[in-house]
Amino acid sequence: MKVVEGISALRSQVRAWRAAGERVVLVPTMGNLHAGHLRLVEVGREHGERIVASVFVNPTQFGAGEDFDKYPRTLDADAKGLQGAGADLLFAPPTEAIYPGGVASATIVEPPPELANILCGAFRPGHFRGVATVVAKLFNLVQPDVAVFGEKDFQQLMIIRRLTTDLNFPIDIVGVPTVREADGLAMSSRNGYLSVDERAIAPALHGCLVDAADRLRAGVLIDDVECGTIRAVDGAGLRCEYVSVRRAADLGDPGPSDKNLVILVAARLGAARLIDNLRCNLN
Ligand code: PAF
Repeated sequence: MKVVEGISALRSQVRAWRAAGERVVLVPTMGNLHAGHLRLVEVGREHGERIVASVFVNPTQFGAGEDFDKYPRTLDADAKGLQGAGADLLFAPPTEAIYPGGVASATIVEPPPELANILCGAFRPGHFRGVATVVAKLFNLVQPDVAVFGEKDFQQLMIIRRLTTDLNFPIDIVGVPTVREADGLAMSSRNGYLSVDERAIAPALHGCLVDAADRLRAGVLIDDVECGTIRAVDGAGLRCEYVSVRRAADLGDPGPSDKNLVILVAARLGAARLIDNLRCNLN
């Protein structure tokens, strides 16, 4: 596996692969990789011959007071994991390569507010602007045929699908189901912030989603399911930010005829902010 920091080396390698008729798949990450990320690489291999994984802790998607400074930087271990999973190239650019005109005054990509300002966007203003901006840059730099993202970040995936359509990127977006620990906790780099006691509480988040899906299927009203789930998350020892039942297709408010739903949750636990979601089909 090649490790590349510079844009011209990245571009010439990708150009050579494409000239040889090989499909290039991009797996964007912020590093500190776990089995969930490696699964993205595995799935990526089903969609093309060459895998480019990027590791870049993107400053513009962190708000003031968030964990940008302490976000774990583990590039050597990440490189080993990616090589083992079958990635062909690791792109690990410095900040100046991604934001050549500086971070503060960068040209930005603004996703539609009806997608970006709800759910996590309401608690992390500007977060999805930062995500959309860096993902658009990575798409321009790598020019992949396919890009792979985890469904754990369901709202992010939805916004990336929309930006791909709106900005006419000729890229297929592939979503990969969430990889969970044996006790149900969704894998996340931020799980590393949990103390032993907090780690024992954290799986309750997934349990609450499973209960919420059962209640929806039993015909309980959405408002009641949301309120009950917020109480259950708080009761388990987390601090719930939101529980919301949405249409899975576009994150809109579900009407009576909508059957394909997703339940999304965010909660704080110690120093960690945890998110998770569960699809729920009422057919
Ligand atoms: O999901 C992530 O790790 C990040 O938000 C992404 C998509 C790599 C953009 O920085």
